[in-house]
Amino acid sequence: MELIVCKTYEEVSQVSAKVVAEVMKAKPNAVLGLATGSTPEGMYAELVKMNKAGEIDFSDITTVNLDEYYPISPENDQSYRYFMNKNLFDHVNIDKSRTNVPNGAAPDGEAEAKRYEAFVRSLGGADIQVLGIGRNGHIAFNEPDEELVPETHVTGLTEDTIDANARFFASAADVPTKALTMGMGTILSAKKIIIIATGAGKHAALSQLLKGTVTTKCPASFLNLHNNVVVVCDEAAYNG
Ligand code: GLP
Repeated sequence: MELIVCKTYEEVSQVSAKVVAEVMKAKPNAVLGLATGSTPEGMYAELVKMNKAGEIDFSDITTVNLDEYYPISPENDQSYRYFMNKNLFDHVNIDKSRTNVPNGAAPDGEAEAKRYEAFVRSLGGADIQVLGIGRNGHIAFNEPDEELVPETHVTGLTEDTIDANARFFASAADVPTKALTMGMGTILSAKKIIIIATGAGKHAALSQLLKGTVTTKCPASFLNLHNNVVVVCDEAAYNG
């Protein structure tokens, strides 16, 4: 596991964008696994800049997002589809038909999870998967639990995650209580993984990951089973 500790959020964003850009340059038709949350917003802004400057090209890129609230309409401004359009897809030369987010409006969530899993597998997994980390150690919406699920599935959100995400909604009661999420195996099928953590609130979860052991109480710790992981964090997340 490679660890890069940066001074500022800006530096974290630039370093992370560079890691993703390297994969895109080496493989113009790469599959990018993408994440939402406030942490990667700066990284997406950097990728937009690089695209506008002609440094990177999205024309042959395919994307697969980690997760989506369920149920939620893609037009809802809190949906992860909306987030991705707003932060990246609307500003780069990507073919929108090759951008994939689990469908939060699917009538049958379980069937949608199966479809999405089969789709990601048919692509051979992501060439690089971008991850944030929940303050309780969740990745995508794989929450700490006695057992974790390998494949894309419908899951309930913990109180802690609903509480953490309530800042984006009118109130905690408006946060959907379920989500569609890639499973641990779907995530680990990526050829390379970059996980980004900023702010002291992520210190406990990041420390658990960096300890090097594996526990279902911290899903991010499963990245210790993968042999190509880059951790990019700021000093606040690293030092607490
Ligand atoms: C959300 C997402 C995760 C994200 C995490 C952290 O619940 N499902 O993919 O990594 O929370 O979000 P933030 O970066 O806003 O702290």
